[in-house]
Order: sequence, then structure tokens, then C-alpha cells
Amino acid sequence: MSDHIRTPATLITGANGEMGHGLIERLAKEGNQNVIAIDVRPVDDEIKAKCGAILVGDILDARLMERLASEYEIHTIYHLAALLSTRAEFMPEAAHRVNVEGTMYLLKLAIEQSRWQGAPVKFLFPSSIAVYGLPSLEVKRKTGKVKEHEWNQPVTMYGCNKLYCEHLGRYYTKHYRQLAADAEKAGVDFRAIRFPGLISAVTVPSGGTSDYAPEMLHAAAQGKSYACFVRQDVRIPLMAMPDAITALLALQDAPREDLSHSVYNIGSFNPSAGEIRAIVLRAFPDADIQFSPDDKRQAIVDSWPEDVDDSAARADWGLAPAYDERRAFEEYLIPVIRKRYHTH
Ligand code: SER
Repeated sequence: MSDHIRTPATLITGANGEMGHGLIERLAKEGNQNVIAIDVRPVDDEIKAKCGAILVGDILDARLMERLASEYEIHTIYHLAALLSTRAEFMPEAAHRVNVEGTMYLLKLAIEQSRWQGAPVKFLFPSSIAVYGLPSLEVKRKTGKVKEHEWNQPVTMYGCNKLYCEHLGRYYTKHYRQLAADAEKAGVDFRAIRFPGLISAVTVPSGGTSDYAPEMLHAAAQGKSYACFVRQDVRIPLMAMPDAITALLALQDAPREDLSHSVYNIGSFNPSAGEIRAIVLRAFPDADIQFSPDDKRQAIVDSWPEDVDDSAARADWGLAPAYDERRAFEEYLIPVIRKRYHTH
């Protein structure tokens, strides 16, 4: 039963990040005016106007969480806040706090909200290809597409955090309070996507290890030279941001009974870094893109698969990316980025 005193809301953490921008834009287009956006940094003006309320603060701040619980009736949570893989290596304990404890706080919030509402709260969680850890380049090349249950041995703190949070989400959905006398119904309906490297034409990532792809493109569009920190032959799955947002919303919409997994791979195209350079150079022939691999960041990317098997997502909730490699660059990334930086 809903209490009707608190405002119904969709909660988005990490709202000012790349996915937050994309998701808030899309929800606003679809007419959702009940977005509560949280970020540690002030939220950019262009998305501010599209939210019902903005909270600037830390998801680890218990008072902020209490305030949320008292003021809003939250039906859906998109928990996007995280420290990405490169940043997390410089501050692993802080990454654990944000990425794991932060997720725990939100799962607890979801449980509490569900008790008020008498229905599970949907919890959408972006996981990552970083949960995979292939032991060598040879194995990576031999393996090709990985399935969700394979090679779950991440080499980064971020990958460990994401993998553990996938388990926490599954636990809270299926096994929470399993020994209690008054066994209660599931309070959380957790659904996760393991995203590949994402490329947006309107925002640039910060602190990730797949950042070489978007950085190369954004540098070229601004006429800046770029030294790519991975080798030319490096290959991981990538996706255009609009497809990533569509996937998140499609998973959110799917009937629970259609979902055979709590965590899904998704992918779209997987050019090598050298191939991305060639595509970027066709659009921006004067671009200066060199390769200057950083062995340590390179090793992280080498541990990620070169492709993913996303057949479960296609079968269960109709994953069907609109942008393959050609369309992603020709119809989305290059034209939109030209507009953004006023280059022709
Ligand atoms: N794009 C992320 C990163 O590089 C992976 O999820 O950290």
C-alpha cells in the first residue's frame, strides 16, 4: 500500500556522470518528471531542469539517505554512482567504500521503501566487462565471446566491487532474511547489465580504462593531439551511449518472469584501438593520434574480453542495439560531436 504523502520518484545516483546524463535526457523525453538526482558534484544545468529534485551529496552520508527515505516514495533506483577502474586503482579502499558500501546503502533503502509500498523496488545496476579477468592475451584471443559465468576473476578493485555487488543484488532479491520466522517477500528486484566500454558524443568519461576510445574521438574533434595509452591491436567490446540507455530501460521494463539471469552481458561492436584511429582519421583527417601504451593500464584492458556473448539479453528482454560500428560513428558519434565542438 502506498502512503501517498511522500512524492513518488525514480532515484538516480551518479546523476552527473556520463550514463546519468544520457538516462536523465531520455527519461525527460519520455515524460518522467519524477527523477530525484544525486551526485557528489553539482549537477550540470542542462540536466538540472529535467529532474524533479537534485541532491548534492555523498551516497555514504546516512543523513542524506534518511532524508530521501522520508521525503520520497521510490519505486525505481538506477544506482549509477561509482569510481571507475583506473581511478579505483589509485584509491582502492575508497573505491570499496563508494562502490560496495554505497551499493549496500542503496539496497537497504530499496528494502525499506518496499516495506512501505508493499511491492518490490526495482534496482537497476550497471556492472561492467571489468568483472572478467582473462589470464593472458593468448587466452583472451582464443576465448573470443565470454558468457556471464566465465572468467569471473577480475584484476581490478573496480571489477571486484562490481562482481560482488552483482552477488549482493541477487542475494537481496532472492535470499535476504532467509532464516527469519516471518519470511518476507522480495523487497528488491535487482537487475544488472555488464556494460562494455561506452562512447558518448556529448560527454567524456573520467577515471575509466576503456576511456581511450572516447578520448581519441573527442580529442580529434577538438583538434587536440592524443597519445593513446593502449596498443593498436587492443580489442574490447564497445557500445554507443544511446544504445546503453535503451538497454537499461528495456531491462527495467521487462516482466520479472522473463528474466532468467540477474546479470546480463551486452555488446555491440568491438574495433581494435588501431581501427578506431582509422575511423576517426577518416572523419578528421588532420587529427594527430599516436600510440604510447602505458603497460600497466594496458594490462587491465588485456584482462577484459575481446567480445561478449549477449544471447541471454537478446532472448530475455530483446536487446537489439541500433548502432553497429558503422552507424555508431557515421550516424551518431561523428555528426553529434562535430556539432558539440563546432567543427565541420
Ligand atoms: N568503462 C569502465 C572503465 O573503464 C568499465 O566499466 O572503468
